Amino acid sequence: MADAPDLAAALIAENFSRDSGGVLHVGGLPLTELAKKFGTPLFVYDSGTMRRTYRALHEAVAGFAEVDFSVKANPSPAVIRVFHEEGAGAEIASGAEFAAAVEAGVPPEKILFAGPGKGAADLDRVIAGGIGEIHLENREELARVAASAERHGVTVRVALRINPGATAQGGAMRMGGKPSPFGFDEEEMDAAIDAVEAQASLRLIGLHLFAGTQGLKAETLLGQWTYGLGLAARIVRRTGRPLETIDLGGGLGIPYFSGDAALDLGTLRAGLPDLIATLRADPGLASARVVLEPGRYLVGPAGVYVARVLAVKDSRGTRFVITDGGMHHHLAASGNLGQIVKRDFPLAAVVDGGGVEPSATAVVGPLCTPLDMLARAAPLPPLAEGDLVAVLQSGAYGLTASPTGFLSHPMPAEVLVEGGRAILIRLQG
Ligand SMILES: Cc1ncc(COP(=O)(O)O)c(C=O)c1O
Repeated sequence: MADAPDLAAALIAENFSRDSGGVLHVGGLPLTELAKKFGTPLFVYDSGTMRRTYRALHEAVAGFAEVDFSVKANPSPAVIRVFHEEGAGAEIASGAEFAAAVEAGVPPEKILFAGPGKGAADLDRVIAGGIGEIHLENREELARVAASAERHGVTVRVALRINPGATAQGGAMRMGGKPSPFGFDEEEMDAAIDAVEAQASLRLIGLHLFAGTQGLKAETLLGQWTYGLGLAARIVRRTGRPLETIDLGGGLGIPYFSGDAALDLGTLRAGLPDLIATLRADPGLASARVVLEPGRYLVGPAGVYVARVLAVKDSRGTRFVITDGGMHHHLAASGNLGQIVKRDFPLAAVVDGGGVEPSATAVVGPLCTPLDMLARAAPLPPLAEGDLVAVLQSGAYGLTASPTGFLSHPMPAEVLVEGGRAILIRLQG
């Protein structure tokens, strides 16, 4: 994958296209037309890119793991449906995400619920709805799930989410895990197993390890997954029963910034025979289904956020392009969704400059805060009022991970491009 100025061009070449007039197309449709029809700002998702990405990962991990979709990355039922059609189950983090997955056609038994603060109402909702598994993260939750299961007269299949005692650095795992609100600390694992075993309404069937997001190095992921298999074996030894589910989390990264190299699926695949051998060698693990549940990796590259230029102004040597889109719809691109160092997402003019030399341009939104910046120095051709810019890698953690109420601008429309058709999946307003 190319470096900064070329990252946007490389991503466009990989997932999208430009016509002879330089107009950016998504799923074969010109963004200029979509912006005219649906208004701006606008999120556009390409189902073709989602399906290609899903299939490539599915193939890379075939024989080792199944690939589910983490709904939090993009909870639109139309998006979930695409992955469901590809064969994915769903990982959800709330009762509303459960409803979205079911609306998308995912059978409840293919849905698992993870998240550190599952309340009684959400637990009742998913248990009444026949959810496949609940992944437990603390003792209070364990008791709430058991009580809800008893009220519903069912046995609930549960997995233990473990906060590992080691962290991945490069390819290796070093001892000294971090404090975390997510999951039981590994040091408490045996006690947590015994606490689940003591509940007649719970059946301990699995392990869940999610060691971190935006992992771009295959070796690091393989190290984490190997560690997860070790934890799974410990559960088997304690309960004396084979495990049914080993959930190794999501966390597969995508390139956003200068110098980010895409995750190498070939390296990932080459490391899997060792893990498969470990599974086969342990009768307690051999029949378990291994689950990956990425969000960002599957849907991030498929989305673009399109904003229209309202004004262009040069201020003391910096060119500012002021657009109708900003951090209220796309907090991550503004660098305010947990990023420590603020760097620019890949950004492109919807109509390219026809060979005109690009210059460093600050792209800002309409909010009354200097935080509302979509790019600090994006290499863009000259732009004018009415032109369009597209923020790439915007399919995951975009709209629903943003402070949409801040300054009371309307919600943007969302469009899914499928089979050459644009389907409106959220109205503007
Ligand atoms: C339990 C769990 N699974 C999956 C994900 C998705 O992570 P990513 O989008 O990095 O794959 C998250 C992210 O927070 C998570 O907490």
